[in-house]
Amino acid sequence: MNRAAQGFQDLYGSPPEGVWAAPGRVNLIGEHTDYNDGFALPFALPQRTEVAAARRTDRELRLHSADVPSGVVTLDLTDLTPGGTPRGPAGWTAYPAGVAWALLEAGLPVGGADLYVRSDVPTGAGLSSSAALEVATAMALTELYGIPLPGAELATLARRAENAYVGVPCGVMDQMASACSSAGHALHLDTRTLEQRHIPFDCAASGLRLLVIDTRVKHDLADGAYAARRSSCHRAAAALGLPALRDLAYADLPEALSRLTDPIGRRRVRHIVTENERVLRVEAELRAGRLRAAGPLLTEGHASLRDDYEVSCPELDLAVATANAAGAYGARMTGGGFGGSALALIDAEAEAEVTRAVEGAFAAAGFTAPHVTRAVPAAGAARIL
Ligand code: GLA
Repeated sequence: MNRAAQGFQDLYGSPPEGVWAAPGRVNLIGEHTDYNDGFALPFALPQRTEVAAARRTDRELRLHSADVPSGVVTLDLTDLTPGGTPRGPAGWTAYPAGVAWALLEAGLPVGGADLYVRSDVPTGAGLSSSAALEVATAMALTELYGIPLPGAELATLARRAENAYVGVPCGVMDQMASACSSAGHALHLDTRTLEQRHIPFDCAASGLRLLVIDTRVKHDLADGAYAARRSSCHRAAAALGLPALRDLAYADLPEALSRLTDPIGRRRVRHIVTENERVLRVEAELRAGRLRAAGPLLTEGHASLRDDYEVSCPELDLAVATANAAGAYGARMTGGGFGGSALALIDAEAEAEVTRAVEGAFAAAGFTAPHVTRAVPAAGAARIL
């Protein structure tokens, strides 16, 4: 039997009605563009969060995670209140509770449920474990109550839960990647219209690998730095008379920069506009089957995040520099930054050498040993049982 289903049965004494799974993600390129109505190119990882669930006849939501020692947390759907994220081990329950709240807020007739969660998406690694939990929960509750929703709607509700209930001001990229990705493809995402294009991305067929280097530096998006980036982008767009930085064309960047007086705002704008352009260029290289040619664009994106957007950290910079020096075609931090993971695009045969080089450089710098794994584009959320 599926392990989440078995865990559910052991805990609640009867089998679940179904099991839903949603993946973590890495973002190939297009960082911090999603709250500027821009473009991103994420893909889903094989690591996923499973939610085994069954309806209840009352308004209770019972939550248990196999990965956190929080026991069974019981909440009443009628008293869910945004902003009340519990501290300590039960903190994770804000995500499924927030999803239930967002579904009810949207007028969807979901009721009580028992949930059993297990996940192999690493937490705090910048691989969107929270989006995976939100999307799996949203899919479970809506399907249990006979109101299945398309991926983009699940993602929008999951993001609403994270913004308004949990209090993290994220964009929609992570939830869209988790809900809408398809195996073997990167997801080109227009975060203004939620229009999606599935771009074939098969590293193995080109003799390549994409490594994920988890620096083990935990990032925390609720921390003010993310919100500060977001507000400087919105201020700059307003100063330029634009609805969002997405509306600033690459060709008009020099003129727009000359109109901005705040040097920090100028750097933030330069990152967003050049990053949107890099997403389009990487997409074009993938479509043309020139995966290696995407490498330098990844490294350029990293420099922009490090110097203009100022969201990198010494561990991410070292991972990128070392991978590149060991022969990677390109490398960059992925996700929100301030820790989490980096990506490196390498020849398949170079895997051991690049991994050794990165591990050696971390040891020499006195950093915690990184976790190096391969990323293969996997499918988005689905019912698995
Ligand atoms: C985090 C957020 C996303 C996005 C990235 C940066 O992962 O959750 O919405 O803003 O950071 O690209």
